[in-house]
Amino acid sequence: MKGLILSGGYGTRLRPITYSHQKQLIPVANKPILFYAIEDVIEAGAKEIGIIVGPNKEQVIETVKSTDWNAEIDFIYQGEPKGLAHTILVAEDFLDDEFVMYLGDNILREGIVEHAKKFKENNYDASIMLTEVENPQQFGVADINEDGTIKRLVEKPKVPPSNLALVGIYFFKPVILEACKSIKPSWRNEFEITDAIQWLIDNGYEVGWTKVNGWWKDTGKPEDIFEANRLILDDLTHEIKGEVKGEIRGRVSIDEGTKVNENSVIKGPALIGKNCLIKDGYIGPYTSIGNRCEIINSEVEDSVVMDGAKRINAGNIVDSMIGRGAVIEKNNSLPKGSKFIIGDNSWVGIG
Ligand code: G1P
Repeated sequence: MKGLILSGGYGTRLRPITYSHQKQLIPVANKPILFYAIEDVIEAGAKEIGIIVGPNKEQVIETVKSTDWNAEIDFIYQGEPKGLAHTILVAEDFLDDEFVMYLGDNILREGIVEHAKKFKENNYDASIMLTEVENPQQFGVADINEDGTIKRLVEKPKVPPSNLALVGIYFFKPVILEACKSIKPSWRNEFEITDAIQWLIDNGYEVGWTKVNGWWKDTGKPEDIFEANRLILDDLTHEIKGEVKGEIRGRVSIDEGTKVNENSVIKGPALIGKNCLIKDGYIGPYTSIGNRCEIINSEVEDSVVMDGAKRINAGNIVDSMIGRGAVIEKNNSLPKGSKFIIGDNSWVGIG
């Protein structure tokens, strides 16, 4: 089985981070979201993986190549993004065998090994993964017959036929290419993968489904990144490599070269990367701090802090996503008051 992983798109709901950072490279528990997808696909047995890239393609290629993967990875450029079914057409030459298509912004706790097995065992032409959600209007939704077969699939229905959403991971035989060539763009002017799978059903092909039991996250918005970060940190392994003089409570991971002084408190689950300085600071539960960050006389909780960010005398900061190299600092220069240099579409909540 081959793997097709999507790492394009503009990620508009995650601006301003996504002006300079491809959405699928945003870190969750200090690892790019995309890496969770690559690991799952390799674990399911894929030896050849095609990654669809779009804007920021150099960034994606460089980041993926910075790690040794136990698979051959090719990058496939999608010019104008025209929908998920369009990415399959862009990758046509690569897709000469059955494959798993994995949206690179999806994270799934249980991996895909069991789901891939059912697709193969049943010799399906396609197999989808479904999970119960509270807001089916925001996803593709499945209507299931009483005998358990799929009746129909609808993309972002106003009146959902069920609460079973399509997870962004699909198993296909190459016949999906014919389906993607046969469909028309949707109301949102995209070639929808949901419509291509519906075409398979309408034309008598076997489409199976499996249910996701553990948690699943589509990380489209900042709240989703926080939630995914919390879910991954819930399984964190306690490991201290840095030089820690302060107090550690609960499960905490601190990487090499990081210093935590005696007046600091780290309360897990929390993750701190390499070469950081935590001085007179408090790092609270569900916080991930990247490499080379400085937290000085400040408190941070429930947040994602990316590489090289600094917080100096910054008080208590909660529920925040701080981009690479961003500085939050309280200084006493006149005139007094909050001073900002903030990128387009940033959001600041003053406590
Ligand atoms: C896409 C699919 C949708 C699926 C979702 C899962 O939505 O079109 O059917 O439920 O991924 O992440 P999009 O992210 O394009 O809104």
